Amino acid sequence: MYQNIPGTFDVLPAGTEGAKMPPSPTWRHVERTVRGVMQRYGFEEIRTPIFEPTELVARGVGQATDIVQKEMFAFERSDTQYVLRPEVTAPVMRAYLQHHLGQRGGVQKLFYVGPCFRAERPQKGRFRQFHQFGSETIGAADARADAETVALMTDVYRAFGISDARLRLNSLGSPSDRERYRAALVDYFAPYEDDLSDTSRRRLKDNPLRLLDTKIEHEQRLLEDAPRLLDFIDEESQAHYDAVKGWLDDLGMPFEEDPLLVRGLDYYTRTAFELESDALGAQSALAGGGRYDLLAEELGAEQTVPAVGFAAGFERLFLALEAAGYDAPVAPAPDVFLAAIGEEAEAFVFKKARRLRGEGLAVESDLMGRSLKAQMREANRSGAPYAVVIGGRELEAGRVDAKHMPTGEETEVALDGLTAFLFEQRAGGQPAEAEAAQDT
Ligand code: HAM
Repeated sequence: MYQNIPGTFDVLPAGTEGAKMPPSPTWRHVERTVRGVMQRYGFEEIRTPIFEPTELVARGVGQATDIVQKEMFAFERSDTQYVLRPEVTAPVMRAYLQHHLGQRGGVQKLFYVGPCFRAERPQKGRFRQFHQFGSETIGAADARADAETVALMTDVYRAFGISDARLRLNSLGSPSDRERYRAALVDYFAPYEDDLSDTSRRRLKDNPLRLLDTKIEHEQRLLEDAPRLLDFIDEESQAHYDAVKGWLDDLGMPFEEDPLLVRGLDYYTRTAFELESDALGAQSALAGGGRYDLLAEELGAEQTVPAVGFAAGFERLFLALEAAGYDAPVAPAPDVFLAAIGEEAEAFVFKKARRLRGEGLAVESDLMGRSLKAQMREANRSGAPYAVVIGGRELEAGRVDAKHMPTGEETEVALDGLTAFLFEQRAGGQPAEAEAAQDT
């Protein structure tokens, strides 16, 4: 028997024994809530392909990053190298430039929901195919865009009742600031090089800022006296950072300044942030993001395009929801189960079910000519509030008994009036697709 690849998972229907992930109705509900918050903030959805040229991702995310060095799912076709996208910011910027979205005028506020791929070692909260939602605000240099991104990110979690996540904030300055800082960091660590782990020694050479991410205790102690990036950032970056903090204060959003916060992607300038939760264990980041004013030029734009965004993993959101005891909504039940007795009624029910569905009702019926008893068991299992049994007698009279499943009470209705009756019974009289229609 084939199994799904480790680090991936199936999203299954509700009530599947042994499922490791929330069922599809929960995913749908959570996605809908996320889209609702995005829409309230004025973001429009963008969908980009799952695979992109390797060069786009390597230039965008950064050649020296772990993602590009070790975690890409890559393949080749007709001499072109492709990767499954490890993130969506570089693809969104590619689409922005390719389609001249800036010409629509004003700031472009885009959001996305979809799968990403990183060949990491799978563990709790870390997958090889995971699912991100995120936003990119393109064309806004003002610190308010950074603060709005942080507020949007935080409000997604608030929409689910999660308000205890910690917001870590830092400024990474400009590339030249970071260049000077990098040199200072290398100088500082040089005398300790022999004490460093293999990974840190490699990082010292390839990507010294990643040393700040070390989880090794004695290296963390060394970091306490290491030079601070914030002491190297230029006046403009400092002013921008102060402005972001000011706006966050104005919004009443608590944050922790963390001078050791560096992100695993190279495109950031100035603002960087992460939202953390204790519910997650080792992979404590719920979401992260920052400003990336130079990415557009890196991808070939002639001018600087200021931009800021965030992305978050659904899988980690689910872990936080589980820890918070979040009650996922139950799967929607059909409006009615139509049971048939005899071949003539079976043929009738088969057609009637389709007609009712066309009128906006959710209808289930039997497909296997099963006994009435088996059909009623199925009706019960389906959670439909009504079951209607149709046999020769009902067909002849043109009337049926609609059985209210929770009470057993029966109401006689004309077959022609069944649709109207079922709509009346439905709480609020909403058509079945109403919930879906609210999707942005
Ligand atoms: P990132 O920090 O690499 O940033 O990923 C964002 C979020 O995706 C993480 O906080 C985490 O929730 C989730 N995530 C990442 N890798 C995995 C994984 N292997 N398994 C499960 N979840 C994962 C970015 O991707 C940037 N594009 C964010 C951004 C948008 N910056 C500016 N705009």
